[in-house]
Amino acid sequence: MSTPQIFVSLQKVGRKFKPSAAFERLANLADPMAYDQLYAESVNAPEKFWGRQAKEHLVWRKPFKQVLEWKPPHVQWFLGGKLNVSENCLDRHLGTARENKAAIIFEGEPGDVRTITYKQLHFHVCRLAHILENTGIKSGDRIAIYLPMIPEAVIAMLACARVGAVHTVIFGGFSAEAIKDRINDCQAKLVITADGGWRRGKVIELKANVDRAVEGTPTVQTVLVVKRCGNEVRMVEGRDVWWKEAWEGAPNRHDAKAFDAEHPLFILYTSGSTGKPKGVLHTSAGYLLGAKLSAHYIFDLKETDRYFCSADIGWITGHSYVVYGLLSNGSTVFLYEGAPNQPEPDRFWSMIDRHGLTILYTAPTAIRAFMRWGDNYVLRHRLDSLRLLGSVGEPINPEAWMWYHTMIGKKKCPIVDTWWQTETGSIMISPLPGITPTKPGSATLPFFGILPKVVDEKGEEVPRNSGGKLAIMQPWPSMLRTLWGDDDRFKQAYFSEFPGKPGVYFTGDGARQDEDGYFWIVGRIDDVLNVSGHRIGTAEIESALVSHAAVAEAAAVGRPDELKGQSLVVFVTLKSTHTASDELKEALRAHVGKEIGSLAKPDTIRFAAGLPKTRSGKIMRRLLKELATSGEIKGDTTTLEDFSVISALKSDEE
Ligand code: WT7
Repeated sequence: MSTPQIFVSLQKVGRKFKPSAAFERLANLADPMAYDQLYAESVNAPEKFWGRQAKEHLVWRKPFKQVLEWKPPHVQWFLGGKLNVSENCLDRHLGTARENKAAIIFEGEPGDVRTITYKQLHFHVCRLAHILENTGIKSGDRIAIYLPMIPEAVIAMLACARVGAVHTVIFGGFSAEAIKDRINDCQAKLVITADGGWRRGKVIELKANVDRAVEGTPTVQTVLVVKRCGNEVRMVEGRDVWWKEAWEGAPNRHDAKAFDAEHPLFILYTSGSTGKPKGVLHTSAGYLLGAKLSAHYIFDLKETDRYFCSADIGWITGHSYVVYGLLSNGSTVFLYEGAPNQPEPDRFWSMIDRHGLTILYTAPTAIRAFMRWGDNYVLRHRLDSLRLLGSVGEPINPEAWMWYHTMIGKKKCPIVDTWWQTETGSIMISPLPGITPTKPGSATLPFFGILPKVVDEKGEEVPRNSGGKLAIMQPWPSMLRTLWGDDDRFKQAYFSEFPGKPGVYFTGDGARQDEDGYFWIVGRIDDVLNVSGHRIGTAEIESALVSHAAVAEAAAVGRPDELKGQSLVVFVTLKSTHTASDELKEALRAHVGKEIGSLAKPDTIRFAAGLPKTRSGKIMRRLLKELATSGEIKGDTTTLEDFSVISALKSDEE
């Protein structure tokens, strides 16, 4: 007998959406038979598949001798091969029709616009590569990047890659303390920052944060400062250098060295459920191949596309699907510096129309904010340049999916709901837009070379339509290689979940596969509740609540309960058109009962003006759980975006 189900997944399956004939006709891959064949080869003969893709898609200086070496939990791809990642994103396009194509179209929050062609981007990166080398940076040295979403962020990443330095990008919303911890963990020698960045009409003082951070970072020797806002900064003699001054005289050609396929490319810190952030390490060739191939097929990239990803460069989405995956494909990337509601909540739609953007990749939390701000902001704009939409970061609730589909995509743009993680490096589960019929709320099917399964506690596959843990059964090129400086934690966190199965990667997520094999991700396993012996994903309850007309956003958490194991507490923010009342509480309970079943009816509903979120927009359920359980929040709040939310929550105690 198999072990009991990890949770019961009850969400009702809605409609299916087929790619339109018009989209299908031009898609990079539209033949389901060809797709089936290619997918089968990719998982049954991965070395053959990936070896061929690596030769086709990457520019090698020295060919690899061996495709894969897998000694769980450690993997190496394309052994013996040498390449330069920045050359793969830039030099390869020079001397081709792409040379004078826009690589980056940038719009700052105040409205300033810059266009940088591939040739110009190459000049910039070469210059910075010289500056880094002249400062004494050697291959393997770590460099911290703490910048707004401006072209210099892309230039900095590519210049690091060019000289073999390992970048760690720190999101511009992080505090001095967070910068210090990250720099000390990876022992960075150099920091690249700016005087400030624009956010909601104000200057975020980045340099001042770096100043405070580097007081406690003995390894930092140089701070390179971009002038963005013109705010006053303190320059420390002998340590701080203006980017522009370093620039003068630096040559705009640079002979890039070739590095091993497994040369470290970057470290990106991501939060674990407990303890200090984990320094996820990605290396060169495998990572780049994963990012490039997935971007090509999943975004169905065309030479004429203008692609907009709203994620900050400080997150993995910005690494893989602003920089590496897009520039290696020779695409035009649109970068926006600021807030989506500056000066008004239609900023994205206005930019899409003004720049003729064709692809939008954003997060469900943003989509729900747009819904809340109201349709009128969208309806002012045409949005007829868009041809494809993407979603990433959390399960997208079907209501938000439908709104995205109708209001933004005008029912003609396929939506790719892409499941992946910082650790996976590139998209793992997603529709292929010319092939896969989509179901709102499901990330659908695995990408080439990815073999995910829904398994029980022992790592055995569970039957269709039962909930379990999402595991990846075999290695893929863009997977993390280790956690920086903590290989034990790497093994513990990702490769120790299933006894006797040391090569199976545990994602930490719960999922279910439906009768068509489609994956429904229910969020982190830690967010799974056990109510009266029934395990339910918080995401499902939240999705049910958000489908009610009054609800803008919801978070569900468990509170220990003698009778039921856990009782279900939900925090709800209402749309501005509705007001809190006991009647509404009852209506919401009934609504969840109807959508999921009585067992999922919340025991307690609390209305809140806002929910505590990380700077990347993830609801911090851990804090809500603490509040629901003890009435207080004592846990770590360093990644919280807005502290006032917490005091407001406490004061509207029932
Ligand atoms: C976790 C990874 C991958 C870039 C952004 C987040 C959740 C991500 C989806 C999706 C359902 C999703 C998972 C995953 N997640 N995308 N399409 N559907 N859940 O990166 O911070 O490393 O978070 O985000 O829980 O494990 P991250």
